[in-house]
Amino acid sequence: MRPIPRLLAVILLAATGCGGPFPQTTLAPRSDLGAQIDTLFTSIFWWAVVVFAIVEGLLLFVIIRYRARPGAGQPSRLHGHTALEIGWTLAPALILVFIAVPTMRTIFATAARAPAGALRVEVIGHQWWWEYRYPDLGIVTANEIHLPLGRPVELDMTSADVIHSFWAPGLGGKRDLTPGRITRIAFTADSLGEVAGQCAEFCGASHANMRLRVFVESDSAFVAWAARQKSDAAVPARGSEAERGQQAFARGACIACHTIAGLPQARGTVGPNLTHVGSRTTLAGAMLPNTTEWLRRWIANAPSLKPGSLMPAMPLPEDQMAALVAYLQSLQ
Ligand code: CUA
Repeated sequence: MRPIPRLLAVILLAATGCGGPFPQTTLAPRSDLGAQIDTLFTSIFWWAVVVFAIVEGLLLFVIIRYRARPGAGQPSRLHGHTALEIGWTLAPALILVFIAVPTMRTIFATAARAPAGALRVEVIGHQWWWEYRYPDLGIVTANEIHLPLGRPVELDMTSADVIHSFWAPGLGGKRDLTPGRITRIAFTADSLGEVAGQCAEFCGASHANMRLRVFVESDSAFVAWAARQKSDAAVPARGSEAERGQQAFARGACIACHTIAGLPQARGTVGPNLTHVGSRTTLAGAMLPNTTEWLRRWIANAPSLKPGSLMPAMPLPEDQMAALVAYLQSLQ
């Protein structure tokens, strides 16, 4: 390719790379924590632009002004120029100090605990899904976390197996989840709606399939959600398909790993709590949409969709599968 078409192709590629939407952008903060990090990034970015312009401007000036000309002699040498050497050592050091001060200030500000009265959520990382417990509200759920708008939140995080990292870019920075330790992140969400996130620390075969969703809701919507989540699982109607599904669930292998509040046989804690699984929008670590088709495929062969998944393949006869799916979907 000739130079001009090549340059145009690069510009076109760069420009088309900038079309949205970017659900995991860090540049559109939706919490006080995200805003602090964004402010730090933006200010350092513009100072870096100033440094770049000065350095490149001087470089271009020197290249053009002092270029080799026919008949010009040897340029003079600057070896051992003390003032210059002190200058070009001090200038970068000063720039680093200039960047370090606001960076340290932001690190300390964002490491602080949430104020008293904040909503506490315990986050437990598993290979490869998220467990959320709201100790003050008596709720246990998975993968999708609901938070009220404008109220301080503290996530107290740990891991059941290996190191994971909670990262919902819109809400702010990452924080590792380390087995045997509690790490914390505190923020106040300031805009309604869904925030996409994912595990940001390599944690095994399905690290890339360990996603999460945050739903920031108005106070009344959050209270209504919490009240539903707190209740025991819905009891299927007598003689319904969902009731047959419930019986299949209670007789099958599912109860070894999953809890359903209100179903005494189901007390497993290896996998996500399924008490209200029908109310979630996603399955399998927020990786698949929670639809009939995906639920069937997930139950039939989870490891084929999520490599390394602890949930084994469960090839069920068609009538049992339909009943089981109907039951899980009835758990609103
Ligand atoms: Cu969990 Cu990566």
